[in-house]
This record gives sequence, C-alpha cells and structure tokens, in this order.
Amino acid sequence: MDASNLKTLIEGIPKAELHLHIEGSFEPELMFKIAKRNSISLDYASVESLKKAYKFNNLQEFLDIYYLGAQVLIHEQDFFDLTWAYLTKVHSQNVVHAEIFFDPQTHTERGIEFGTVINGIYKALEKGTEELNISFKLIMSYLRHLSEEEAFKTLEQSLPYKDWIAGVGLDSSEMGNPPSKFEKVFKASANHGYKLVAHAGEEGPSEYIREALDLLKVVRIDHGNRCLDDDELVERLINENIALTLCPFSNLELKVIQKMEDHPVAKMLDRGLLATIHSDDPAYFEGYMNENYYETAKALNLDKNQIMQLAINAFEASWLSTEAKEKHIAAVTEYFDTWDL
Ligand code: ADE
Ligand code: ZN
Repeated sequence: MDASNLKTLIEGIPKAELHLHIEGSFEPELMFKIAKRNSISLDYASVESLKKAYKFNNLQEFLDIYYLGAQVLIHEQDFFDLTWAYLTKVHSQNVVHAEIFFDPQTHTERGIEFGTVINGIYKALEKGTEELNISFKLIMSYLRHLSEEEAFKTLEQSLPYKDWIAGVGLDSSEMGNPPSKFEKVFKASANHGYKLVAHAGEEGPSEYIREALDLLKVVRIDHGNRCLDDDELVERLINENIALTLCPFSNLELKVIQKMEDHPVAKMLDRGLLATIHSDDPAYFEGYMNENYYETAKALNLDKNQIMQLAINAFEASWLSTEAKEKHIAAVTEYFDTWDL
C-alpha cells in the first residue's frame, strides 16, 4: 500500500480511543493561554522553548514535565477547555468513542477540589456526545507513586460523582510501585461498582502484569508490552480475552522501544492477543490516533486486515454495550470493504 493510500485509509476508519490521559492532551498553545488567564508564569518563555523540552529518556522524565504542565489547570473552565480541545481534535480524526483517564490527585494535591476537575471534564464530554456524536467513558486513575492511603482518599472523594465514572486505573511511575501496593483500594473500588484497569508492563516486568490480573483483577492492561517475555502469560491473556491498550508513539518517545520497527504490536496480533492502538499523551508525544496508526502500520508493514483487526479490537475491548460494539464493528467492516487493496 503506498503512503498516501495508507494515510487516507487510516483517516477514514471509525476509531475508539481507550488509552488517553486527558492531562496528556494539553497542547502547549492552550497551556500558555490558560496560564496567562490564571496569572501563572511557566518556566518556558514560549511554546517553542517548551516543546524543545519534550525530549525524554524514560517514563519518569516525561512525568516530571507532565505534572508541571498540569499545574496551570485551576478552574472548572480550564478542565472543560482541555477536554473540549481533545474532543474537537479527535473528532477530526474520526474517533467515535473515547475512554479517557483523568488523574484527580495531580490536582487535589495542589488544593483543587475533586468536583472542579470532574465537572469541567464531564461537561465537555457530554457536549462532545451531543455535538460531535462521540460516546465516552471516564476512568479515574490512581497515581502509583503515592500511597494506597492517598488512593483511598481519592476513592472517597469520587463517590458523589460515581455515576459519572466508569472505572479506575493505575498510572504514573511504574518501577518500584507494583500493582500489589494497591490491592485493597482496587477491591474497594470494585465494591463501589467501578471497572478496573491498570498500566502494567510498560517499563515494569511481566510480573507486574500478572499482579494486575491476579491481585487487582483488572479487565484490561494499559500497555502490557512486556507480556511477550512470558509465554504462559501470553496464553492466559489470550484465553481470558484481556486487551492490551498499546501506545506506539509513547513507547518510542519514552524509549520503551528504540525504533518503531521494534514495536511488538504485529507480533501480538499474530499470536492472537487482543491488541489495540492509542495515543496515551498526544500533546507530549506529538501524535494522536491517526499518527499512531499510520506510523505503526508503515514501520511494521501492516496489511489491510491487520489494521482492520486493530480497529475492531478497540471496540471489542471497550466498555460499550454489546449492541453498540456490534454497530461500530459493522461500520468498521463495511468501511474496509470499500477499500479494494
Ligand atoms: N501518565 C500519563 N501517561 C502515562 C504513562 N504512559 N505511563 C504511566 N503513567 C502515565
Ligand atoms: Zn498511559
């Protein structure tokens, strides 16, 4: 497939995004605008100098700058604007369903009310459904570099808004913060009706993926790249139909892989894993859904069927109703039928 055909093919796919940190979609231009209206001075003189700082050798170097950027978000309107900017961007990329993470502790730790954060995000998501026809689920992520006790506080704060929150996740610094640290709070979260996911096997070992399954009882693994180190684990992920929400640009930018050609997604599809592709923190890694699909497909020489499988897998792995999943998967299949490649 030539490059221009591949690009056009990818642009037209109806897509589901299942791994997106809303704070990671904070584009520098919007960051400067919000900083100005909140009278906050950023450490960088311009958008260009800020973007130059987006060079990371590992997850922690990225997280340090990501948490700094989030500090300019103060008012409900800021969270609304952040979310709305993401939705309008991905609408232009034919994303029709989004399951979005937010990190309440990044904000409550700075004295911002939980309600301020979620009201802004949720109102934008509702507007996205009404005006852009994008369905959504909201996932509250616990920061794993903080204590389980802090996560319990966040769980408590979330309860008045529990009807707005589909599930909980686990993100931030993986090494040294294994899933086992959060076993009790995940159990309590499940008792409140939240679905469960966790980042695991991004930088951390395959053992963390096992822990996420065994101890946290997650239904999806975010990243999970390292599962390929462990054949028995791969078999289990296949048998239990556990999706892996992969993020190729993120992996490349955070040096989880050294070049796109090394990305494990093709191997994972070959083995029958429920692998999906997403953007993680698109403002920092400079790629939304289309760019992630395109660069991955190009580097790994994915064929039409593999690309279609990735798109179908994302709806399959989503938290949509069976009926909605079927509708979206039929639309994907029909779309690919129009391509005679
Ligand atoms: N928070 C935002 N992006 C993340 C990632 N890729 N891994 C862990 N925590 C994150
Ligand atoms: Zn992530």
